[in-house]
Amino acid sequence: MVKKTLIGFGLLMAVLSACQTVSQDPVTRGDVYFHALGCMQCHQIGDQGGTWGPNLTFIGFRKSPEWLTLWLKSPHSWNQKTVMPNFHLSQDELTSLVAYLSAQKGQAWTDAERPWNKPGLTALERGHILFNKAGCVACHGQDGRGGYPNNNVVGGQIPGLTQVSLGYSRKELIRKITNGVPQPAPADPNKPLPMIFMPSWGKVLSQSEISDVADYLLSLGPKPSSSADSF
Ligand code: HEC
Ligand code: HEC
Repeated sequence: MVKKTLIGFGLLMAVLSACQTVSQDPVTRGDVYFHALGCMQCHQIGDQGGTWGPNLTFIGFRKSPEWLTLWLKSPHSWNQKTVMPNFHLSQDELTSLVAYLSAQKGQAWTDAERPWNKPGLTALERGHILFNKAGCVACHGQDGRGGYPNNNVVGGQIPGLTQVSLGYSRKELIRKITNGVPQPAPADPNKPLPMIFMPSWGKVLSQSEISDVADYLLSLGPKPSSSADSF
């Protein structure tokens, strides 16, 4: 009898500590908050959720935890014009959501599930879908038209991409997208460094994906006078 009670007690403790491991994991708590707070109404992770805001499957690859914290605390202090609501998050909601979002580095899709890798798409269609769903759009704007802020950079904005055909050969463009710019140059060396950087997409995209998004960008812009570059 005593033994049975002890076993029962042991089991109860095991169950309790398993629950605690789950609730102590901020990524898991962030996942719960993400669903409970209605973030999915406007955002997708993988193919689930709404499409008003950017797809967040690669959010942890493209934005730093520091920036995510700033954004979720007060979207409008970063971008006055944003439609993303201020959720007035508690400290626990904030740190858990940042942990959950930072963990999203594309794993919600296998390579074949990436929406731009569905069969039957032309290279340009593939590049355009990639631009939107991998989240180039979240920094460079719809169709690369720009308009999103960065701190302490000349002009105060992330560059638009509608003119890259004039400044880059196809090869240079592919190299730029592959390597990114880990730390954009500050306009004022005495102020905090720019928080938005150009990710090194070569870490998560194949060369064929990068070359299709490069072709998509080239299709946006004016035709260069010389197109001698072949790749
Ligand atoms: C009413 C729609 C809406 C809801 C609800 C919403 N967002 Fe957003 N969110 C947006 C839009 C739109 C943007 C893009 C910024 C812009 O264009 O103003 C954005 C941007 C973001 C970004 C930055 C994306 C990037 O790649 O730069 C993150 C992170 C984010 N939202 C997280 C959340 C979280 C977490 C929640 C829930 C607590 C949430 N959002 C709820 C509309 C929404
Ligand atoms: C997190 C924000 C962010 C995302 C997401 C992002 N970029 Fe960028 N990108 C930047 C910033 C910032 C720069 C400017 C870097 C610098 O200081 O030179 C840049 C620069 C560029 C340039 C060079 C533009 C020029 O005028 O020289 C190209 C091309 C480019 N990005 C393509 C892409 C593509 C393609 C994607 C998606 C696969 C992408 N970017 C996603 C932030 C981003």
